[in-house]
Order: sequence, then structure tokens, then C-alpha cells
Amino acid sequence: MALFPKKTDPAQTGADLSRLPRHIAIIMDGNGRWARRRALPRTAGHAAGAETFRTIATYCRDIGLDYLTVYAFSSENWKRPEEEVGAIMGLLKKYLLEAISRMERDRVRMEFFGDLSPLTPELRQLCERTREISRRYQGCQVNVCLNYGGRDEILQAARAFARDCFEGKADPDRLSADQFGGYLYSKGVPDPDLVIRTSGELRLSNFLLWQCAYSEFYITDVLWPDFSKEELHRAIAAYQSRDRRFGGV
Ligand code: IPE
Ligand code: IPE
Ligand code: MG
Repeated sequence: MALFPKKTDPAQTGADLSRLPRHIAIIMDGNGRWARRRALPRTAGHAAGAETFRTIATYCRDIGLDYLTVYAFSSENWKRPEEEVGAIMGLLKKYLLEAISRMERDRVRMEFFGDLSPLTPELRQLCERTREISRRYQGCQVNVCLNYGGRDEILQAARAFARDCFEGKADPDRLSADQFGGYLYSKGVPDPDLVIRTSGELRLSNFLLWQCAYSEFYITDVLWPDFSKEELHRAIAAYQSRDRRFGGV
């Protein structure tokens, strides 16, 4: 046994990486507060948060996680000052360009949940290209929630289902939860087992409302730019200590 265990040693936190949850979802919150504490502009917090995302997504792939879903920009985040929204979109573009150029190496599969239509044509195209190129990879699937809102997602699913009923392709009396799930952005992706929220806020903020019905929650005061592999191990260890009953005994 090592005399000085590595700081990132999962065993230190009690996490067993050989039996990971299948799907982890993260509300990456606290970029603004991280920047304020350093007397930096909020946009510097977003830049630091984007780096953390890169590190955590790569790590999740390395440990063999099947699905990672991250909340990057909510349908309500447009309420922020134009300059901040512009900076976030700029970071997204930078990230996507890098992701495309590194895809062969990273081998992650990327998807986007949300209504991409209000994004610039350039960003929309980048999302589409990222999605297309990464489709052939079998590694961790990373779902980026962009202009995403849980209520929006359910509404657009209800509209699509109603259209199918109208065209005789679906029957309202036979609609099951599984079938309805097929109309959501998360189509084909199992529900998150573990939802992590950074920066201590005790709310969902319109994240995966349908999919979180039986998810386990882990809230940490750590601000997203400071989120680390150790903190992820702590979240996994907490998850592994829970008794998931799904309404049973
Ligand atoms: C999360 O950090 C990133 C986005 C919502 C885009 P915030 O920007 O919400 O950071 P705080 O909550 O103000 O600290
Ligand atoms: C949720 O964080 C959205 C993202 C992390 C992208 P917010 O900072 O927007 O949530 P509220 O406003 O505190 O509920
Ligand atoms: Mg916030």
C-alpha cells in the first residue's frame, strides 16, 4: 500500500469506481460567485467553469461512465446581461471547435439537449457537426443541455405527441411513460441515477424534470470552477451509500 495515497485516490472517499452509476447529471453552478470571490468579472468564472467541464468530462470517460449530462445554459439564462450571454456563447464556440479537433483522441459521443433554434447559425452548425462526427464513438456519451428547460422539453414532447395523434400515428389512450420518453430530448438515454449540483443551491432550476423522478441528489457547496475529481468521488461514494427503493420496501 502506498504510504502517501494519491490525492485523487477514489478509495480515500469510499467511492468504488468498479460499480459506477450509469448516468450522472450535473448542474454546473457557481461560476459567477467563484469570479466575484476573486474580484474578477463573471465571464472569467465561466471560462474557468469551461475548463472544469473539460477535465470532468474527460475523467468520466476515463473511468468508464456511460452517460454524463451537464446543464450548460438554461432557457432562463437569456435573462442575464447581453455581455455575459455573449461570453458564454463565445466559450461554447471555442469548446466545440476544440472538441471537434480532438474527437479522434477523446472518443466521447456528444449530444445536445434543448432548443437550439435561437442560437446563431454558426453555433447550431457546430453543434450539429459535433453530434454527427461523434456519433461513431462508443465511449462516454456527454449530453450538453443548451437553452434547455425541463418544462420546455415536456411541452415540445406533448406537442409532438399531439401531432402524431392527429396524424393517426399515435393513440392517446395507449401512451405510456416509456413511449412519452421517446419524445424527449433525452430519447434513448436512461434516467440519471445521480444528480450533482454545485454551489449549494437546493433547487432543480428546471433541470431534467421528467428524468429526475427517482434520481439521487448530491449537493455540494463547492463552486463549479473548483469542482474536482475528488469531489466527484465524494458524490459517487454518497450515491453508493444510498438505498434506492423506487417506492418499494
Ligand atoms: C453557472 O454559474 C453557469 C450558468 C448558469 C451559465 P452561474 O453563472 O449561475 O454562477 P452563480 O450562480 O452566479 O455563482
Ligand atoms: C442553473 O443555474 C443553470 C445552469 C447551471 C446552466 P442558474 O444559476 O441559472 O440557476 P438559478 O437561477 O440559481 O436557479
Ligand atoms: Mg447560478
